[in-house]
Amino acid sequence: MLVTLEGIDGAGKTTVLEALSDAYPDARTTREPTASWYGDAVNRSISSSDSDSLAELFLFVADHADHLSRVIEPALADDELVISDRYIDSRIAYQGAALDGEITRPMEYIRGVHTAFSTMPDATIYFDIDPETGAERAGATNKLEHADFLTEVHDNYEQLIRGEPERFHRIDAGQSPEAVIAAAEDVLDSLR
Ligand code: TMP
Repeated sequence: MLVTLEGIDGAGKTTVLEALSDAYPDARTTREPTASWYGDAVNRSISSSDSDSLAELFLFVADHADHLSRVIEPALADDELVISDRYIDSRIAYQGAALDGEITRPMEYIRGVHTAFSTMPDATIYFDIDPETGAERAGATNKLEHADFLTEVHDNYEQLIRGEPERFHRIDAGQSPEAVIAAAEDVLDSLR
């Protein structure tokens, strides 16, 4: 089973992933962007303010394709529980916002790019935080972490959730880290 963790920057997903990897030692925990050279290229692009948004989308997609064939698909073939901190929805929400006004219907376009080769998650835990708090927590260290941009990303996530309410499990990420972790564990237990 493939479970993904999603949410805007500052939602606390990474702390949750660490806790889940302790609570579910048999699970394969992973993340996007990855630690491969494709992920390095992504990080180089997002740390630059003048990178081309469409080129940046395809760097993320390249990193995802490599992640899929190298990590996700083999683990799923071995019947492992795979938990990924960010996955396709991050691209639809973030690059959907970054490409808004640049290409026609960016969210549909980005989804379509993935449909040709990728695997959708069985379930997605969505860590919901308001964009101001998210930006404050994230510290606005790159162009993707500013409140205005995160507001658009947040709207895109809401649109994704409306489209597939059965896949998404929403957790209030404004609670204490302990409460957020406990809620995520409850969701995982309900899925297994
Ligand atoms: P992280 O904060 O979860 O490490 O992710 C790095 C940044 O990259 C974060 O601002 C979210 C952004 N991102 C995208 O814009 N698109 C994607 O597909 C992914 C995986 C991350």
